[in-house]
Amino acid sequence: MKKHEPKLFDPDDVMHNLCDNRFVRDIHVYRSVSSTNVLARRLAESGAATGTLVLAEKQTAGKGRLGRSWSSPEGVGLWFSLIVRAAELPVPVATLPLALCADVGLALREEFGLDFVVKWPNDILYKGQKVCGILCESSFAGQTVQYVVAGIGVNVNQVKSDFPEPMRDLATSLRRITGESQDRLTVLAAILAKIEQRFSDADVTARALVDWRNLCTDIGRTLRIQTGERVFAGEFVDITDTGEMLFREPDGAMHRLLSGQVTILK
Ligand code: BTN
Repeated sequence: MKKHEPKLFDPDDVMHNLCDNRFVRDIHVYRSVSSTNVLARRLAESGAATGTLVLAEKQTAGKGRLGRSWSSPEGVGLWFSLIVRAAELPVPVATLPLALCADVGLALREEFGLDFVVKWPNDILYKGQKVCGILCESSFAGQTVQYVVAGIGVNVNQVKSDFPEPMRDLATSLRRITGESQDRLTVLAAILAKIEQRFSDADVTARALVDWRNLCTDIGRTLRIQTGERVFAGEFVDITDTGEMLFREPDGAMHRLLSGQVTILK
């Protein structure tokens, strides 16, 4: 193996690391996929159960929120998707992304003892740089949710040059943060342990939004948010019980925003 070649997943190690996790029921490990969300959706369409995990070394068309792409180079990140069928949703579907975001944030805090924070709706940052993003895609029959594919991307062992040029100062990795290479399976197991708790323990389920708020340092701050064509500037007042951002413009006008691109002003 060349010096800088990343260590790839051994499917047996993946199984072994996750064998105690009662949420994860079926594991699919790929060397290269377009997007784990696409693969997971295909599996869900053929009836795959809640807890099905699709994990890839590399994504050739990793998807981000708001139609953006997600850089997913081989062997240096955690690029995975989970299937959650409607009947087993622990929280209302609209708040699942925030619940998962809180889970990842708590897992990283515990694992590394560092102050990771969440940025609405479901990014995880360290010192202002993004370490993790979450893309939940729901499938509906009419108005009824059938299942959600929850895609989670964690930047683990990238060095600065592994990120596309425009992302180099906006994104970071656990390796850049801690100064040393990290074991991806340890991080994956820590995240999935938190998710397992969220799905199995009613008290933990009930405090999903409380956990999210506790990890958020932006509430009360002034920010700019772009939603579609509109740009608002004002105060991030709180999140609602359905995970929307409650936002106040300087003239007092209140908005409940479902999605958008947030920039902190002060
Ligand atoms: C974002 O912050 O814009 C969301 C990024 C989500 C990336 C993950 S990586 C695994 C899964 N598969 C994808 O194509 N996207 C998500």
